[in-house]
Formats: sequence, structure tokens, C-alpha cells
Amino acid sequence: MSDRIVILTGAGISAESGLGTFRDEGGLWAQHRIEDVATPEGFARDPALVHDFYNARRAQAAAAKPNAAHKAIARLEAEHPGEVLIVTQNVDALHEAAGSRNVLHMHGALSRALCHACAHRWQAPEAMQPDDPCPACKAPATRPDVVWFGEIPYHMDEIEEALSRATLFAAIGTSGNVYPAAGFVTAARQLGIPTIEFNLDPSETSPLFDERRLGRASQTVPDWTRTLGS
Ligand code: APR
Repeated sequence: MSDRIVILTGAGISAESGLGTFRDEGGLWAQHRIEDVATPEGFARDPALVHDFYNARRAQAAAAKPNAAHKAIARLEAEHPGEVLIVTQNVDALHEAAGSRNVLHMHGALSRALCHACAHRWQAPEAMQPDDPCPACKAPATRPDVVWFGEIPYHMDEIEEALSRATLFAAIGTSGNVYPAAGFVTAARQLGIPTIEFNLDPSETSPLFDERRLGRASQTVPDWTRTLGS
């Protein structure tokens, strides 16, 4: 039976591509209040502020390049005889830019826009404004297609199904602070699936992993994927 690797990624895998993480020193949640820019209530209160926040992140993400960690797992997906699924909490498109195809964005994507009146989704423009009309229903009800705190992450059924069949679970560059993603390692352990974590520093969930590789993802991840190949 060929193996099936599920790889959860967080902001840390994109840090060396120049994109800010959330909880590191000076991270995004040190610069902005979550309740202002990453909740439905914050968006209802001040949609322009929220669009400004995501417009800035969309521009940064568009200018960023995938790093050696993104490229290593894209190569793994292309060359590994078994299945490789990336479940990312990130809203950038660096996995796809590195060549990964099997990617689930459980927290949505900066590249997509959502109409909160009719649920239509489309390719987001570079910059979005509160009164942009929805291309489908024309209502001035557009928002970034990003999952905010208090909202249900995407693809959970598919993720749970993939985890139940996995032969290896890896987490790269995530602090293990936010559920349901932070709970995937516990689900893997309960299923007897080997687990490995890649992080700069020990995360909240580090003690739950069978193996931990500390260091920058651009170093530790390629070293790991090379061993999987041999
Ligand atoms: N290599 C490996 N790990 C790194 C690197 C690096 N170069 N740089 C930072 N890290 C690690 C940090 O040590 C930290 O554990 O990446 C992790 C980033 O943690 P967070 O900033 O909390 O990001 P993340 O875990 O992805 O946050 C999860 O929280 O705010 C929500 O929706 C948001 O998707 C996000 C979710």
C-alpha cells in the first residue's frame, strides 16, 4: 500500500518568503487587533479597514516567491510514489507557485473574493473596496474569501477523510494555537499515525509529535523530503 502523507502548513513556511507570521515577535497580531481585521463583527463595523488589511497582504503575497520549503514539498508531491496532500492555514498562493497541485486552503485564499449576500466567489482584484459590486448579484457586499475567527474552516470533511487514511502527518511552521488545525496531530496520534513537526521554536503542540525538527523550514524541510525519496 503506497503511503499517504498529509502536510499541515502555517505562516512559518512562508516567513522566509518575506510574509509576516501572526504570533512571532512583531507579527501581524502585534500590529493589528484580531477582532478588528479577522472577525465578521470587525468587518461589519469597519469594512474599509478590513479591506485595507487584506489588500496590503494580497499585494505582499503577490510579490513573494516560494522558498526552498515550498519547493521541496512540491517536488515530493511530483516524485513520491504515494499521495501527498497539503492542508494549509495560509492564504497566500506560494504552495501553488512552487508547483504543488494537491492543496487545500482551510482558511481561504487572498486570491479569492466572496459575496456575503449571494455567496458567489470569484478571482479577487488586486485591491478590494467595501462598495465593490458582486459580479453575480451586483450587491455592494464583497469581502475577502478568508475564514475569520468564529467562522467554519473550509474542506474539513476532505481533511478528516485524508487524515483517517494517512500513513504520515507532518506540520510545518505552525504555532499550534488555532483549532481545528491544532487538533490534527491529536487525531493522527489516536489513529496510530506517525507525526513529525518542523518549527523554528517548539510550538504549543510540540510535545504531541513523535519527532521534532527545529530550524528554518527552508533548511529542515528539504533535508527531510530528500530522506523520504531515498
Ligand atoms: N521556519 C519554520 N518555522 C517558522 C519559521 C521558519 N523560518 N518562522 C516562524 N516559524 C514558526 C514560528 O515559530 C511559529 O510557531 O511558524 C509559526 C507561526 O505561528 P503563527 O504566527 O501562529 O501562524 P500559524 O500557526 O499559521 O497561525 C494559525 O492563526 O491567526 C490565525 O488564520 C490565522 O492561519 C492563521 C492561524
